Amino acid sequence: MGPISFFRESLRDLKTVGTVTRSSKALCKGVIKPIDFDSARFLVELGAGDGVITEHMLAAMHPDAKLLTFEVNPKFCKKLRELKDERLIVVEDTAEKLPIYLAENNFGEVDCVVSAIPFVSLPKSLADTIVTLCRDALRIGAPFSQIHYSLMRKKVYQGIFGNINVDFVPMNIPPAFVLTSRKA
Ligand SMILES: C[S@@+](CC[C@H](N)C(=O)[O-])C[C@H]1O[C@@H](n2cnc3c(N)ncnc32)[C@H](O)[C@@H]1O
Repeated sequence: MGPISFFRESLRDLKTVGTVTRSSKALCKGVIKPIDFDSARFLVELGAGDGVITEHMLAAMHPDAKLLTFEVNPKFCKKLRELKDERLIVVEDTAEKLPIYLAENNFGEVDCVVSAIPFVSLPKSLADTIVTLCRDALRIGAPFSQIHYSLMRKKVYQGIFGNINVDFVPMNIPPAFVLTSRKA
């Protein structure tokens, strides 16, 4: 799926997709930067879209690692399945069901969560629940990295994880922030 198809799909449901452009190369690199790919075996991605970040993760992942990727849009899930990488498990379901799919797929403690879910358009209680589930699933010291286009929800991560680091990525439309917290 190219940028035009992503644009069309986002116009159909802008509230869920959250933006009209896929993440730029700079943003993809920025959001996966906190991950130690040499040691990571259980990776999670939320809101994968058509897989632009997924592909960057797969390219860096260890051959024995697994990536559990959540996406609610059926067209995007079709594109994700076309990546045909046996380390990739595409979950066509909502991210708040994370614990169910971790158990089903025999995941141990999670080594990283990368998320582009537009939490700003979700009810705050649901966004908080998803972020808390991610924190609980992570091993101590492991990163949770979230893409945002404003810093409106910064305090949520500070509250749930007790720490937050913000990186600005100007080379994206729109310019974006990567918010990273680590499990204490
Ligand atoms: C901003 S797009 C990001 C797409 C891609 N990761 C990128 O960076 O270009 C956010 C994606 O999150 C998905 N999404 C929204 N709510 C979700 C939820 N509750 N669970 C899983 N995916 C969700 C949307 O369908 C959309 O594809």
